Amino acid sequence: RTGCTSIPVVVHVVHRTAAQNVSDAQVQSQIDVLNADFRAKNTDKSTVPGAYQPLIADARVTFKLATTDPDGNPTNGITRTSTTVSSFNTDLDDVKHASTGGADAWPADAYLNLWVCPAIHSPTQTGILGYAQFPGGPADTDGVVVVHHGFGTTGTAAAPFDLGRTATHEVGHWLDLRHIWGDDGTGCAGSDLVADTPNQGGPNFGTPTFPTISCSNGPNGDLFVNYMDYVDDMAMVMFTHGQVDRMQAALDGPRSTIGT
Ligand code: ARG
Ligand code: ZN
Ligand code: CA
Repeated sequence: RTGCTSIPVVVHVVHRTAAQNVSDAQVQSQIDVLNADFRAKNTDKSTVPGAYQPLIADARVTFKLATTDPDGNPTNGITRTSTTVSSFNTDLDDVKHASTGGADAWPADAYLNLWVCPAIHSPTQTGILGYAQFPGGPADTDGVVVVHHGFGTTGTAAAPFDLGRTATHEVGHWLDLRHIWGDDGTGCAGSDLVADTPNQGGPNFGTPTFPTISCSNGPNGDLFVNYMDYVDDMAMVMFTHGQVDRMQAALDGPRSTIGT
């Protein structure tokens, strides 16, 4: 498809403490970041090394808080749920069900569900910033989850993950993007299934310097400025044309019911 797709978003704020009950302003700050990043309107894209600037692409996706709820009633697109759960488990998807201390999804064929929660862990890792479900999964767990202190740019958002890029990264997954290093650890065999991203060994962290070379990808090296790497928020600033093709294919395929 040509042009932009506008996606209705419902933000489910699941909180145990008062601070975790993030403000409407913090929610809106996250929507604003998504709208900048997915249109390549983020001004920090100027930090992309010259050699990689031609790869910067407009994803042609916009986001707006839902104005109608599943029953057809007016809404501000934000639900608020008090919980006794301190940390939610990625394997259980417990944040996504009221029966386990979370909030139920709104119909995934019509809304992007975005849960904000106290903390996230897996069986092997604590302190996870966010996670997402790829296209094609069950509707009741579809969407993205972001920890409150990595959400938006104000309120409880805390450096170095206070520029809203965790949600940008997770919505990238939700639109079928893989990690840029190919998810095979630090080896060179994995692929993100995108042709214009350089082959990359493993994830980068922090604020890398150019060039960072792996997998014989010199002279320009890893595209560590990409939203699908693991660098700090200030260092991830772009999608590529190939990634946009993949996201648009998801919007024309498994996600074709959502957005206008
Ligand atoms: N799923 C990743 C994690 O929590 C998200 C990484 C987001 N990175 C960022 N700079 N915001 O480990
Ligand atoms: Zn990821
Ligand atoms: Ca790899």
